[in-house]
This record gives sequence, structure tokens and C-alpha cells, in this order.
Amino acid sequence: TDMENHRPFLVLLFFAFAVGFIAVVFVLRWVLHFREGLAWDGGAKEFNWHPLLAVTGFIFLQGIAIVVYRLPWTWKCSKLMMKLIHAGLNVLAFILAVISLVAVFDFHNVQNIPNMYSLHSWVGLITVILFSLQIVLGLCIFLLPVSPGYLDKRAVFLPIHVFSGLFIFTTVIATALMGITEKLIFGLKDPTYKDSPPEATFVNVLGLLIALFGALILWIATRPSWKRPSEQLLHTLHNNEPASDSTKTDTAMSERHDPEPNSETRRGDGKTEE
Ligand code: HEM
Ligand code: HEM
Repeated sequence: TDMENHRPFLVLLFFAFAVGFIAVVFVLRWVLHFREGLAWDGGAKEFNWHPLLAVTGFIFLQGIAIVVYRLPWTWKCSKLMMKLIHAGLNVLAFILAVISLVAVFDFHNVQNIPNMYSLHSWVGLITVILFSLQIVLGLCIFLLPVSPGYLDKRAVFLPIHVFSGLFIFTTVIATALMGITEKLIFGLKDPTYKDSPPEATFVNVLGLLIALFGALILWIATRPSWKRPSEQLLHTLHNNEPASDSTKTDTAMSERHDPEPNSETRRGDGKTEE
């Protein structure tokens, strides 16, 4: 019955994961089959690390990191454990994004191609910088054991954190679509992009897959009813006690009023948990 309640979520989650995975397979096939392959040689093969790591790291891993709190089978794990997984996946996504930038900058420098001239590069660099800020702020606010003050900092910052996280994720997807378009225009010579060779069609489909992955992650992450239940409700269910009415209406299905139902942070400021 537990899994039946979660069926719509699980179907969509599986679909999102499959679309993201196929996108990763598509970039791999693009750089290995249609392009020159991979190497760290200052040439075209080095550039190819850029799209590969951008899609696998900055898009796929970040998408998984965003929905990780919502996996029902993790709700028995501690909130701290889930924060470490969420933060760890985002740090990994950041590392791969930075390596992908090093690859394209090094390629440009070796080939004497100017840096930072395109809209793609401007938006892309800004997203990487904002992503690093999001990580630093996230760690400081949600993980560091700051003394609980009069005003709960975590509750104030969580809606901002969620909005900026979803905004960065969306902007990274837009960046990838720009980069794909540039590369097809630059890279396809005889036949050109407008002659629609197989590579052009294949990589256009990759762009659609990336956009669909983004839409699915955004949908999952904006369903209030699929949120991780509050620590209090989890405790009640765990002890097999019938949940009180107030607990049910507070947390179970609809909009959650408690911004971060984390037992350490919600207590000790004099307020009770209703
Ligand atoms: C260049 C960021 C994804 C294609 C660049 C540059 C940055 C950047 C900052 C400038 C490098 C320089 O000036 O030396 C990003 C980010 C991505 C991303 C954050 C995350 C999604 C992609 C993808 C492609 C791509 C998926 C597809 C092939 C290119 C191309 C260039 C480039 C062709 C060289 C031309 C230019 O500077 O615009 N990227 N990129 N990028 N990127 Fe991306
Ligand atoms: C929740 C994005 C880094 C702590 C979220 C959510 C998003 C997000 C979109 C909403 C998820 C949901 O509603 O299920 C990001 C991005 C990050 C990042 C893009 C990296 C740049 C961090 C870090 C921490 C953190 C380093 C530190 C522990 C949290 C917490 C929540 C959260 C505590 C609330 C989970 C809940 O509602 O139960 N994050 N995050 N995040 N994030 Fe992050």
C-alpha cells in the first residue's frame, strides 16, 4: 500500500531518470561517433569533454540532487543524512562543471580562439558562479551547526534556496541548448547544419531530451504533496501511533507550512511544533 500511494511519483521519477540517462548516452554517442572522440590534447577531442561533462555533471547529477529528498524509501533516513547526499551530489556536479570549463578554456587558448565572446559563455559562466554561491550558502545555512537564534535562519532562507536552485537548474538547461546550437553551426561543414545531416537531427533530439528532463525535474520538485513528510509525522508513523488530526493537516498531503521540518532546528526557540 505504501508503494501504491507513491505510484504516480515513482512513474514520473523513473521517466525523468530514463530521459536523463538517455541524454547522457546521446552526448556520449555524439562525441564518440559523430565527433572526434575524447582526449586531453588541446584539440577538438579536448573540447568534447565540455559538452560531455556539462550534460552528465551539471545537468543530470544536479537534477538527481534536486529530487533526492523526495524519494519515499529515503524518508526513514535521517534528515542530516539526506542533506549530506543532496550537498554531496551538488558538489560532484560542480566539480564536473568546472572540469568541463577548464576543457573548453584550454582548448580556446591552445587554438587562439577568443574567450567569453558568446551569450552562451556569459550565461554559462554566471550559472557556474551562482551554483558555487548556492553550495557555500547551503552549507553555511543548513549544515553548519549555528546556534538557534531568535529567528530561525533556516526557515527564512529555505524558500530562497529552493527558488534560486530551480532558477539555476533552468538556466543551465538554457545554456546547454545555446551551446548545442553553436556547436552544430560551427562544426557542421559540408554538409552544413541547414542540410540536416544525421548528426544535426541526432543532436537536435539531444536538445529535446535535455529540455524534457528539465521539465520533469521541475514538475517533481514543485509538487507540494510529494515532499518529504516532517520529522514529527515520520516519528508518529514509525511508532505506529495513529496520527492526530492536527499532524495530518499540517504535514501529510497539502502545502507544508513548516519550511524545514527538521527536529534540531524547529525546537529550542521556545515554539512548540503545534
Ligand atoms: C564555450 C559554459 C554546455 C558548447 C563555453 C564557455 C563557457 C561555457 C563559460 C566559454 C569558454 C571560453 O570562452 O573559453 C557552459 C556551461 C554549460 C555548457 C555552464 C552547461 C550546460 C555546453 C554544451 C555545449 C556547449 C552542452 C554543446 C556542444 C560550447 C561551445 C563553446 C562553449 C561550442 C565555444 C564557443 C563559445 O565560447 O561560445 N561554454 N557550456 N556548451 N560551449 Fe559551453
Ligand atoms: C532543498 C537546490 C545545495 C540543503 C533544495 C531544493 C532545491 C535545491 C531545488 C528543493 C527540493 C525539494 O523541494 O524537494 C540546490 C542546489 C544546490 C543545493 C541547486 C547546489 C548548488 C545545497 C546544500 C545544502 C542544501 C550545499 C546543505 C545541506 C537543502 C535543504 C533543503 C534543500 C536542507 C530542504 C529539503 C526539504 O524541503 O526537505 N535544494 N541545493 N542544498 N536543500 Fe539544496
